[in-house]
Amino acid sequence: MEARINPVLAGLKALIVGIANDQSIAYGCAKAFRTAGADLAVTWLNEKARTHVEPLAIELEAEITAALDVSRSGELETLFETIKKKWGRLDLLVHSIAFAPKADLQGGLLNCSAEGFATAMDISCHSFVRMAKLATPLMTDGGVMFAMSYNGANRVVPNYNVMGPVKAALEAVCRYLAYELGPSGIRVHAISPGALKTRAASGIKDFELLLNEAAHKAPLGELVDIMDVGWACAYLATPFAHRVTGGTIYVDGGANIIA
Ligand SMILES: NC(=O)c1ccc[n+]([C@@H]2O[C@H](COP(=O)([O-])OP(=O)(O)OC[C@H]3O[C@@H](n4cnc5c(N)ncnc54)[C@H](O)[C@@H]3O)[C@@H](O)[C@H]2O)c1
Repeated sequence: MEARINPVLAGLKALIVGIANDQSIAYGCAKAFRTAGADLAVTWLNEKARTHVEPLAIELEAEITAALDVSRSGELETLFETIKKKWGRLDLLVHSIAFAPKADLQGGLLNCSAEGFATAMDISCHSFVRMAKLATPLMTDGGVMFAMSYNGANRVVPNYNVMGPVKAALEAVCRYLAYELGPSGIRVHAISPGALKTRAASGIKDFELLLNEAAHKAPLGELVDIMDVGWACAYLATPFAHRVTGGTIYVDGGANIIA
């Protein structure tokens, strides 16, 4: 498959936020974008994460690397300053991060504290609004933004708990950003991958059951992998998708259509 991909994204500048390791959805996006010719900026959460992410950034020939914890004030601004200095512009932005404190995530929505709810919403949802605001002035030739959702936004998925309402908000954020940024030629997509075995997913109770069900339910009969998500985003980043914006795109083998 990779050998047949033309460099349709050649020369485009892409910021990828959310690589923790080579299982991360963000890594699949980065790999697909790079294979299609884009230049990359890649972030890691902190020094501990850097050990795992830096070798991947080197493999991906990332031109910009930086630490980014969206909950630390000033780090996003510093990152976008670096991008502005080095590239002078940005074309693609991938937000592939989520977090909720374990007790608030695993205890059911009724038991989620106000602080836990606010933290989950800030890191997993509002940080995308902040990124979009900083990215917009750099997207001078238009651009494409992606945020990772999950079908727990629209259907009750047992054990997904507080992340359900948070992802519902994220999908609404994508619609409103698509509305506000459409006149600037910027498209915004919520991507809804099927269940994937990643580090973030390991925080969901009984995740193995979800994985089994996802494969069983999907009309295409298999679990998706991170490259399936990456290639879908790469397609949406091309001019072939230039009239597509604001929606939630499922990359789940069709599982979402089954009752
Ligand atoms: N794995 C799945 O089944 C699945 C399905 C649908 C959607 N998603 C979504 O995909 C996205 C990526 O998750 P993943 O499954 O690849 O797991 P992952 O653990 O590989 O990625 C999660 C990323 O979030 C980052 N992160 C957490 N707090 C942060 C903060 N304060 N600042 C900056 N980054 C922070 C982590 O460093 C990590 O890189 C998430 O939004 C997740 O909800 C995952």
